[in-house]
Amino acid sequence: MHAAPGFIHEPVMLDEVLEAFDAVPAGTVVDATLGGGGHAGALLERRADLRVLGIDRDDASHEATAPLVERFGGRLAVEHGRFDRIPEFLARHGLTEISGALFDLGVSSPQLDRAERGFTYRSAGPLDMRMDRTQELTADHVVNGYDEQRLASLLRDHADERHARRIARAIVSARPVRDTAHLAEVVVAAIPAPARRTGGHPAKRAFQAIRIEVNGELDALPAALRQAIDATSPGGRIAVLSYHSGEDRIVAGAFADAERASPPDASPFVHPDTVRRRVRRVRAPRRPSQAELERNPRASAAKLRVVEKVGR
Ligand SMILES: C[S@@+](CC[C@H](N)C(=O)[O-])C[C@H]1O[C@@H](n2cnc3c(N)ncnc32)[C@H](O)[C@@H]1O
Repeated sequence: MHAAPGFIHEPVMLDEVLEAFDAVPAGTVVDATLGGGGHAGALLERRADLRVLGIDRDDASHEATAPLVERFGGRLAVEHGRFDRIPEFLARHGLTEISGALFDLGVSSPQLDRAERGFTYRSAGPLDMRMDRTQELTADHVVNGYDEQRLASLLRDHADERHARRIARAIVSARPVRDTAHLAEVVVAAIPAPARRTGGHPAKRAFQAIRIEVNGELDALPAALRQAIDATSPGGRIAVLSYHSGEDRIVAGAFADAERASPPDASPFVHPDTVRRRVRRVRAPRRPSQAELERNPRASAAKLRVVEKVGR
C-alpha cells in the first residue's frame, strides 16, 4: 500500500499509470491531483530517478501525504492550490521543464466517505462539497440560491441528467434544502419511478453536477492540460484519468489540439509535413481491467488517456 495511512483511497488503474511513466526521462513528474498520494508514492518507489511535485486544492491531502513527504525525503514536494497554476508552482521549485504530469480527476474516497464534507448522498451532511475549504462558494449557495433555469442547465451540462428540469423545479420548491440527505430525498422524488431503478443511485448524477459546479472542475482543466503539455520535455508523458463524459471530452479535445498543433503564424493552407505536432497519442484510451472493477467498483467509469511530447 503506497497511499498515506488513514487516507483510504485505492489508486485507480495503478499498473497502467505506472507503465505510462516507465520510459519518461529522469526529472520531475507533476501529480496535479495528489489526493492520498497513492499514484505518487508508487511512482517514486518504482523510479528512483524521479521526483514528484504534488498539487491538491484540498488541505486534507496535505495532511494525509505528510508521512510520504518524510519517507521520500526531498523527492516529494507538495503545493496547495488549483492545478491550473502549474507554471507558478514550477517556478517556485526552480523548474523550467518536467518529465510529465498525471491528472486523476474527480473526488477522492475520503472526500466522498466523510459525511461532513457534504459530497455524499448516502448520509446527512452539510451542503458543502468544496474540495478547497477556503473557497467561498458552497453547495448550499448553488442548491438554495441559483434560479431554476441555472440549476437545470448545470444538471444537464455537468452530468447529462435527463430529468434536469423536473429536479431543478423540485429543488426550488423544497427550499430551504437543509442538508445532503434532504437534497437526495428531493432529487429522488423528482425522478419518475421507472427511471429510478436504472443506472445506480438516482441522486448520483445530480450530486456530481452540483459538485462540479461548486468546484469549477471543468473550468480549470483545459488551461491545466495546456500548461502540462507546454512544460513537458520531449519523451515525457501526460496521463489523465477521467470519470465522466464532460471531463473526457475536454481531455480528448486538448490532446487532439496538441496533436495537430501548427506554428501560430501558419497559413490555413500549410502543407501537412510542416505541421508541428507537439504530442503523439500513446495507444487507444484504456479502461480498468475486470479484476480491478471487482476489487474497486469506484473505478468503473475511469478512462485513461496518455500522450507523449514529441516536439516543442
Ligand atoms: C481522485 S483524487 C486523486 C487520488 C490520488 N491519485 C491517489 O491515488 O491518492 C482527486 C484529487 O484531486 C483533487 N483535485 C480535483 N480537482 C482539482 C483541481 N482543479 N486542482 C487541484 N486539485 C484538484 C481533489 O481534491 C482530490 O484530492
